[in-house]
Amino acid sequence: MYKFLNVLDTQYFIPKSLENKPGNFSYTWKAPSNIALVKYWGKITPQIPKNTSISFTLKHSHTITTIDFSLKDPNELVMESENNHIEFELLFEGKKKDAFKPKIAIFFDRIKEYCPYIVDYKMLIHSKNSFPHSSGIASSASGMSAIAMCLMSLEKTLSKEELSDAFINKKASFLARLGSGSACRSIEGPIVVWGYHKEIEGSSDLYGTLFPYKVHKVFQNYQDTILLVDKGEKQVSSSVGHDLMHHHPFAEQRFIQANQNVKKMTSIFKNGEIDQFINVVESEALSLHAMMLTSNPYFILMKPNTLEIINAIWAYRKETGSKICFTLDAGANVHVLYPEIESKKVLQFIDHELSKFCQKKQYICDTISYGTQKL
Ligand code: PMV
Repeated sequence: MYKFLNVLDTQYFIPKSLENKPGNFSYTWKAPSNIALVKYWGKITPQIPKNTSISFTLKHSHTITTIDFSLKDPNELVMESENNHIEFELLFEGKKKDAFKPKIAIFFDRIKEYCPYIVDYKMLIHSKNSFPHSSGIASSASGMSAIAMCLMSLEKTLSKEELSDAFINKKASFLARLGSGSACRSIEGPIVVWGYHKEIEGSSDLYGTLFPYKVHKVFQNYQDTILLVDKGEKQVSSSVGHDLMHHHPFAEQRFIQANQNVKKMTSIFKNGEIDQFINVVESEALSLHAMMLTSNPYFILMKPNTLEIINAIWAYRKETGSKICFTLDAGANVHVLYPEIESKKVLQFIDHELSKFCQKKQYICDTISYGTQKL
């Protein structure tokens, strides 16, 4: 499959009329995580997905980030102008966190063409997560989208022309994508598509867009309870995982399958076909893991308790007729998805039957929601 990146499209995000303003500016944004229903796994430079993905934006699993911007001294700017030096400091949960800095430095370097002001201002980033540290929940989606929204707040202040909210969200998604692909799906909610798909109007490889069609009421306030099976470091980083798709014997077929599943989801959302939803979502989770099982080097990202949980969910569904299903990220934790109307019963089931498979019986109750919020 060949993807063509339109340079004109990316130029749309280069600001035309900015004016640096002296002083200090500070913005705080809350940004959520998201869970993919049709998975993104495989990309080409610069962060262009090999297939379309679609996700639920979450509510309670979020990052809150403040960036304090202060204009550099003019002498400093002259000295630095040749190497475009980007200066930032990072405090995570109140403490200096140098381990997170390289990923953010790469991100800033990738976006400086689109956000030239990051060279002119010093940035102090303070960040904290709502979910426990090292819970195995990726914080890159919420973290990168929160930073992107703070940058867009500064851009709005510095821009001589009025920036619409629609433009701000689109550009924030475009920027977040360059930090971590799936982060572009965290700016808005509740359902976001990323990657061009001929059947989804407005879809783009460059940013996430809200699912543009009617969504059946059964999917309103859909629930996601995240079972923390393994809270350790990810066994395979997503960049290594994406890279393994380059010479993967089943990759091309996988990209076709994902795009077909996005098409199916479009009809599922419109018509409320919940049994089809369960089928596509679980098949997607297992296909993602199958890609890891069949790559070289190969990985088993599930733990024995992941399988215990999957089997228990299937048995419960069979016994009760519940519409519960599961999905997985590239790790051992399980996202349990179900309609709001089943909340009470399913939470009892999770507490009585599934929590014993979680580390310290921990799980996080989340629900789908609307994306980033300025604080
Ligand atoms: O955004 P990345 O590069 O961390 O990749 C995320 C990939 C998955 O979470 C496994 C799937 C997805 O679409 O979110």
